Amino acid sequence: MGVAEAGAPSAFDVLKGGERPAIVALAEEARIRLAAALADLGDGQGALLAAMPLAWATSALERAARKPGLDGVSEGLRTIAARVRTDGRAWSETYARLLTYETLATLPTRTVPLNVPRIAWPDIETGLAAVLRDTAAGVFSDWDEEFFEKDIAVARVAVIGEVGRAGGIERWTPRYAAKSSPLGLKLKLAAYLRGDYFRKGNYWRRHQWRGYREVLRQPFNVAAEKVAATVLVNKQVDGMLGIGWVFDPALREVNPHFKDMPNGFAAMGGRGFYKPTDPLSFERAITTSQARRELYEAGKYRPIDYGLFVARRDVLRWIRGRNLDARDADGVVVEPDQPSLIVRADDQC
Ligand SMILES: CC(C)(COP(=O)(O)OP(=O)(O)OC[C@H]1O[C@@H](n2cnc3c(N)ncnc32)[C@H](O)[C@@H]1OP(=O)(O)O)[C@@H](O)C(=O)NCCC(=O)NCCS
Repeated sequence: MGVAEAGAPSAFDVLKGGERPAIVALAEEARIRLAAALADLGDGQGALLAAMPLAWATSALERAARKPGLDGVSEGLRTIAARVRTDGRAWSETYARLLTYETLATLPTRTVPLNVPRIAWPDIETGLAAVLRDTAAGVFSDWDEEFFEKDIAVARVAVIGEVGRAGGIERWTPRYAAKSSPLGLKLKLAAYLRGDYFRKGNYWRRHQWRGYREVLRQPFNVAAEKVAATVLVNKQVDGMLGIGWVFDPALREVNPHFKDMPNGFAAMGGRGFYKPTDPLSFERAITTSQARRELYEAGKYRPIDYGLFVARRDVLRWIRGRNLDARDADGVVVEPDQPSLIVRADDQC
């Protein structure tokens, strides 16, 4: 995945047709803010900027983004951070702001690595507007802070921003992912995924982003439709993957509001597995809730990472059964196997 083949239409080729005026307006606003932020820099900073032009940062990101999804963007940002952090906190923050504006401003002219179904655009626009708003408000913690990485990845459409989540392609080998699961679960997963069980594949996985708490209160299927439509129009995606402590089926006894996480994937046909619990998952589960901590201390609950794979065939069957055409509020449809927008994806990933 990465730079699309020569001749592939850029995002602008489609956007200039007026399909997504909100994106064009947002990019224009980002361009104006970028120009103003550059003009605000004093001579000293200006010299520094000349030594480290945004073009360099963009190309560092471009190179790293040959890896799909969030991974490539995180890697590119680490390279940039290593350079800018040595110049102090204030410059590091300024540079992050410039890079965000630049990434948003150039979105319409860039060829992005994913096909985007029309149904996903409204959420993407909401997400991009939030990125622009928070950047202008000076909301920034650090280069490797997860929301900043996601902001840049979303602004590049390397991942797709939804309300509350950011999703993209990750490379997983199901056999390795499930290796510490009970044998019965492994066998069920292998029978379900067939040959894909043994192969490294491309799985669509979502991570928390702005508004995650609120989105967990919404019906699973509303957000899942957008994800499934995205899988549909990106043929290189082998299926969906949900994974983390919030997917643990045992959690529903403790916190019923998480039950849709595993249930939604299972209803699509997915099969589950256990994975050794990530220390970060463990800490998040225990530290974000007094109630969970008390149950843990009483020996009644222990955070565990649980995942579910949904095979591409099931994702497609599910989305085709959802009758999207009739229910899509703005009348825009997702046609099976017809990417309704916008830019071509490389099939290599
Ligand atoms: C995932 C997460 C957003 C879910 O939040 P949630 O839907 O409110 O559900 P939780 O059960 O986790 O709630 C945790 C606590 O937040 C409190 N809470 C509820 N609404 C809140 C709000 N708007 N702001 C702050 N705290 C709130 C609850 O009272 C609860 O405390 P309690 O269990 O002692 O009563 C939250 O657990 C979190 O921030 N976790 C850390 C990040 C994480 O693990 N993400 C998922 C994997 S990537």
